[in-house]
Amino acid sequence: MSRFDQWIERRNTDSLKWSCAQNELPMWVADMDFEAAPCIRQAILRRAERGVFGYSVIPDSWAKAYSDWWQARHNLQIERDELIFCTGVIPAISCLVKRLTNCGDKVICQTPVYDIFFHSIENAGRTVLESPLAYRDGKYAVDWEDLEEKLAHPLATLMILCNPHNPVGKIWSKAELARLGDLCAKYGVTVISDEIHCDLTDIGAEYTPFAAASEVCAQNSVTCIAASKAFNMAGLQSAAVFTKNKRLWNIAYRGLNSDEIAEPNSFAVDATVAAFTQGGEWLDELRAYLLQNKRYVADYLRENLPCLHLVEQNATYLLWVDCSAVTDDAEQLCIQIRQKTGLWITAGGQYRGNGKQFVRINVACPLERVKDGMNRLKCGISD
Ligand SMILES: Cc1ncc(COP(=O)(O)O)c(C=O)c1O
Repeated sequence: MSRFDQWIERRNTDSLKWSCAQNELPMWVADMDFEAAPCIRQAILRRAERGVFGYSVIPDSWAKAYSDWWQARHNLQIERDELIFCTGVIPAISCLVKRLTNCGDKVICQTPVYDIFFHSIENAGRTVLESPLAYRDGKYAVDWEDLEEKLAHPLATLMILCNPHNPVGKIWSKAELARLGDLCAKYGVTVISDEIHCDLTDIGAEYTPFAAASEVCAQNSVTCIAASKAFNMAGLQSAAVFTKNKRLWNIAYRGLNSDEIAEPNSFAVDATVAAFTQGGEWLDELRAYLLQNKRYVADYLRENLPCLHLVEQNATYLLWVDCSAVTDDAEQLCIQIRQKTGLWITAGGQYRGNGKQFVRINVACPLERVKDGMNRLKCGISD
């Protein structure tokens, strides 16, 4: 039995994911139904034992933990002074959008993509310029012609890249990233690379940090990283940004500090240091478990729901399922499934692009729960 088979009761714990009726099964928001790694829980307990929760500074061990992890796991040297603490990837992106663009500018997103990017852009009075991913033969790819056309728009000044990509689960190759970096530099478009899912790749499918794709990419980007997705600690509000460009670093540093999102709560640093210095083995066990769950779903859909197409992916625990053979309105389909079976999954329209005919399913839970989810899905889809 795997530690990830353990059934954790999250109902009535103020969990966002589990704020649902007794008979419902939530497989929506990107939050895992697993306990955090023991090293993280111990670090938090040790910190709690101290019993004093005043203001904290960021110790050098925090930047060292990130730097050593990226060097060892992702083959990228991040200097410690290139990193800036922030309370979350989205707080950082919302801040950077305001600092790196002017009101009315266009920010390019490759849709369908994580919907909160749109909030960060639109709440700041900027507009989203979609460069929809090409979808051919059930697979996603960059539409280079469209991307170049969008980058060339005089009001396009920033692009938010999602690497690996949520919701389509794709790891961009080094060649794709370098090509994208050259194009952005050609048109004077800065890149924010959101790499929050980078440690949740399938075993053997490694991601390339955007900043490692080429010197051009490194010099024209700010990257957002965190332990929060991989180690399931989003509630601890701990993330980092880094850039190798001094001008961009100055802008990010000033912005994050002015927005008051550059200071940690009492547990953020210790938990992150524990994750990156002691959590490697736990993480690899998790990745193997998630792969098993993803394979289960792939087999189940092939055998029981051939009308649905699971988009091939190699990162994240979020599965992107093409429902176009059964509906042109996934929102309605999700409502129907939830009402009929209690299964709560995400309708893809919120991610824009061609998302309207897709659903997103989170499989980061014990396999037994995934099996329950698949049975409910089948029941919800059939008349
Ligand atoms: C691509 C992406 N970026 C950012 C976030 C949220 O980051 P944070 O909780 O650090 O604001 C998520 C959460 O699912 C995500 O999928």
